[in-house]
Amino acid sequence: MNTPVNTDVLAEKEQQTESALDRVLVLEMVRVTEAAAVAAAQLVGRGDEKAADAAAVEAMRRAFDDLYMDGTVVIGEGERDEAPMLYIGEKVGGAPGKGPKIDIALDPLEGTTITAKAGPNSLAVLAAAEEGNLLNAPDVYMDKLAVGPGLPKDVIDLAKSPTENVKAVAAAKDVEPSQINVCVLDRPRHADLIAELRALGCGVFLIGDGDVAGVIAVTDQDTTIDMYMGQGGAPEGVLAAAALRCVGGQFNGRLVFRNDDERARAKKWGIEDLDHIYKLEELAKGDCIFAATGVTDGSLLDGVKKRRKSTGATIMTTDSVVMRASSGTVRWIRGEHRIAPHKE
Ligand code: FBP
Repeated sequence: MNTPVNTDVLAEKEQQTESALDRVLVLEMVRVTEAAAVAAAQLVGRGDEKAADAAAVEAMRRAFDDLYMDGTVVIGEGERDEAPMLYIGEKVGGAPGKGPKIDIALDPLEGTTITAKAGPNSLAVLAAAEEGNLLNAPDVYMDKLAVGPGLPKDVIDLAKSPTENVKAVAAAKDVEPSQINVCVLDRPRHADLIAELRALGCGVFLIGDGDVAGVIAVTDQDTTIDMYMGQGGAPEGVLAAAALRCVGGQFNGRLVFRNDDERARAKKWGIEDLDHIYKLEELAKGDCIFAATGVTDGSLLDGVKKRRKSTGATIMTTDSVVMRASSGTVRWIRGEHRIAPHKE
């Protein structure tokens, strides 16, 4: 028998809510990243980045329909003419015109190459905030500098050199610069940065891809990573900043333009000062939610695993995290998704 729904209580609850995000079930965001991760996981190690990305995009797009919100993608798969789904400006959610107005930054598969090669740290990820609170970052590079929580305010400054920043963080932690571990994307463009860090004696933790997980790693003492440095995607910078807003830490980001076309794109999104150094609150303002599900095993989350239960049912397990800035609550969620019916 179905339990009758007390609509008075529901209406009262809705009245009491303080922010639009309260009306979107925060936990429901995890269903969206879970759906994308499970879809991408079928293609781990298959050498096909595009197929893995497409599977994640389609699954995420469908899962949004179940959320009661009037959502708009502000960071997505590209501009309308570049991406068939989850493009910037696309409306998502099951209550257009009725539900709370939410801006969404998403990356259904952060780490397409990782997934294709079955490497570590690929994620399905999204951030959500009230309308207007996420930076509409163009798809260009961003210079990133991040540290975890518990350090003096403004201990890092992207206007200063890597050496100055390492020394400032080392002094704040009361250790020698040679004791500082820095995570950097392994790219030829970072050769000078890596040489400078090694000259200081720092540990340089090179990652092949996936700088959302790389930035978040500074917040987890178990990783032993003290700082994140280097250029990666600007959209990924906004996603990582949303996570740091929830768990603490500091972040500086500056957009990097390689040509006039990229500068024009930034202007189109209303960005006037092209050299501006963005801090956390400028990338993700007000209350925000960050949700991620692991596709492959990584420092933040385990990947999707297929298992057979003793009952004979085949399940996929997922490992997710959802965090909220206003409360600072971090929830780790392990999901079991039955994919084949149990046969007696
Ligand atoms: P994709 O998921 O789009 O492949 O991005 C992976 C990634 O490593 C990001 O984490 C990072 O911000 C960006 O690519 C770096 O770009 P590039 O590979 O051009 O150096």
